[in-house]
Amino acid sequence: VRLREARPADLDALLALERECFRTDRLTRVDLANALAQPHARLIVIADREGPAAYALLRLPSARGKARGIARIDSLGVARRARGQGLARRMVRRCERLARVERAERLRLEVRASNRPARALYRGLGFVEVAELPRYYADGGRGLRLETRLAR
Ligand SMILES: CC(C)(COP(=O)(O)OP(=O)(O)OC[C@H]1O[C@@H](n2cnc3c(N)ncnc32)[C@H](O)[C@@H]1OP(=O)(O)O)[C@@H](O)C(=O)NCCC(=O)NCCS
Repeated sequence: VRLREARPADLDALLALERECFRTDRLTRVDLANALAQPHARLIVIADREGPAAYALLRLPSARGKARGIARIDSLGVARRARGQGLARRMVRRCERLARVERAERLRLEVRASNRPARALYRGLGFVEVAELPRYYADGGRGLRLETRLAR
């Protein structure tokens, strides 16, 4: 199972993954297509025999503005068939590396407060809670903002 950059031919499979992983606040086809085209976005996938089984959308820091020095994981998901094999951990590590190369100082993301598997994943990788986000999600669900510092 190889980790690689997504390509346009992956879009249908990525949309299916997004539907499998999230009930609300899903990325659209346009979001994903834009991510493929934007120089400051990286869309990575891990494919198995059936195609993309995991993906992550990383946004690299902008040169200016208040998000300076901060990279973000905007979305990350693993197909049910491929969970529990370390794929999510591998993708977060890759995101950290890509962000570090682009001189980001921190890697940030938001997670649903009720999402135990994801919170355990990020805790295990050293992320800490930096903000509570009441009614962050479209269904009113509470979010948490997590960050990790990237070593120079
Ligand atoms: C959360 C999710 C990404 C984890 O993917 P995964 O590939 O199964 O995770 P990994 O195998 O890399 O697990 C890494 C660590 O995460 C934690 N973890 C993963 N699944 C877990 C579960 N069901 N229960 C508790 N902890 C879990 C564990 O700490 C695990 O480490 P360990 O295996 O050494 O115990 C996956 O369940 C998923 O896609 N869920 C739906 C979408 C989602 O919630 N995305 C994250 C949004 S921020």
